[in-house]
This record gives sequence, C-alpha cells and structure tokens, in this order.
Amino acid sequence: MSLTDIEFFKGFIDMCDKGFKLGWHERNGGNLSYRMTDEDVKAAKDYFNTPSEWFEIGTTVKLLAGEFFCVTGSGKYFMNVKSNPFDSLGIIEIDENGEKYRIHAGFVNGGKPTSELPSHLMNHEVKKHLTEGKYRVIYHAHTTNIIALTFVLPLTDEVFTRELWEMATECPVVFPDGVGVVEWMVPGGRDIAVATSKLMEKYDLAIWAHHGMFAAGPDFDTTFGLMHTAEKSAEILVKVLSMGMGKRQTISPDNFRDLAADFNVKLPEKFLYEKED
Ligand code: 13P
Ligand code: ZN
Repeated sequence: MSLTDIEFFKGFIDMCDKGFKLGWHERNGGNLSYRMTDEDVKAAKDYFNTPSEWFEIGTTVKLLAGEFFCVTGSGKYFMNVKSNPFDSLGIIEIDENGEKYRIHAGFVNGGKPTSELPSHLMNHEVKKHLTEGKYRVIYHAHTTNIIALTFVLPLTDEVFTRELWEMATECPVVFPDGVGVVEWMVPGGRDIAVATSKLMEKYDLAIWAHHGMFAAGPDFDTTFGLMHTAEKSAEILVKVLSMGMGKRQTISPDNFRDLAADFNVKLPEKFLYEKED
C-alpha cells in the first residue's frame, strides 16, 4: 500500500494527467489543490513523514485552519505527475490561525506548494463557506483559447459569459452563474488572490487575462468538466472569429430564456443584454 492506492490521490493524479494531455500545462504551467475529507486524512496519515517546519502562506485563511490539502508543487510539471507523484505533489496542513502551512507528505526532493497557494486557499475559503463545505477542488490551467480571447474581447464578466454561452448550447446549463474576469495582474501573490476570490463569491470560473483560468467544484470530474466546457466554447469562438465573417446567426437572449425555463436554471439578466450590430 501507498498513498497512490488511496482514491483521492488517484483522482488527483488522473486530473493532472488529463489536463496535461489537453495541452493546458506547458512546462510548470497550472496548479491543482484538493481539500481533503476527514476520511482522506485518516487514510493518508499512515504515509505521512515527520512534518516540516511551518511556512507562511502569504495571506490569512482562518476558515481553513486545521484543514489538509493535496497540492501540486511550485515549478513542477503536470507532465510528470503520473510518473513521479511524490516529487510533483504534496500534502499540507494549515495552522490554527490560517496563516502558515507545513508539509506532511510528498515534495520528496525539497519542493514546496504552488506559487499560487494564496489564490487556491482564498478560493477554497470562499467556496467552503458558500457551499457549506461541498466544494473541495480548485484548478488553475493555462487554457489556450481562453487566453487568446483575452487579447481581443473586452475584459468584462458580461462579454465573456455571453460569448462563451453563445458558442455551445450546454454552456449556460453547465455554468449558469457565468464567468468572472480578472484584468492582467502579477501572478503568485495576495493581490491577485483577493481579486480572484472576490469573483469566486459569484462564479465557479475566473479568467486571468493573458494567463489562464481558475475553476472551482465539489469533485475532480465536475471541476475538470467545467474547465473543459469553457475552454471548448472558447475554441469554437476563436474559430468563428478566425473565419472573419462575424456571426451570421447565434443563440438569442430569448432562446437563452427558453433554455433556462426548460432546463430549470436561473440565468442572470445582466448577461442577456441586447447587442448592437
Ligand atoms: P507554479 O509552478 O508555482 O504552480 O506556477 C505555475 C503557474 O501557472 C503560475 O500561475
Ligand atoms: Zn498560471
């Protein structure tokens, strides 16, 4: 037996591998974190090493005090997670004040958690609170087509949500709350974490202009599926725009209202604005 026999660890590795295969994780691009359940911690404890010293998180996440996370390492390649999980991943514990973490497993070659740990943990804190503990996964990927669109579309929640919804009929059903957009900011610190976690109060998806996307969800499949759906929609939009003829027809605001009624989802009216053409 080893950590790699435990379900959550297998799911974590599998998700990293799927993202890499879709081309979203060049070099060390992207990162993943999972808030472990009590059962996960119980099962994983047998494989814990002597804990490291405590390190600063760089922000405060009081609501996550005492929680354990599985997280990708800074500078580690998603490409290598499957073949070398204990080098690429680690399990960390948050201290009683929500200000520090220590390492219990993984990072065997002296690694440490992703540089985006403040964003991951602040997003986890928001989602843990809003979903009463249901959400456990935060995923950051360098999704090519979403990034491309941040160079040509206005950087607003309204435009990105509406354009992505229009490109695939299931989008408003998969992310009915919409998508948030963070203008370009320096990654890896508290400021971008604050901006992103603010958007996570409204959405499960946040775009980082000229950089990538964050997705949140209750489990690996749902979170990965959300990222995949938005990125696929962005790919269709890139193709449509590349044809250079604009849209001849599309899904209208009233079509969306009909869809919402039939699929029993609430679509905020702010995304169903009339367009001028
Ligand atoms: P890390 O290697 O520190 O996870 O950083 C990758 C990344 O995507 C930064 O935004
Ligand atoms: Zn990144």
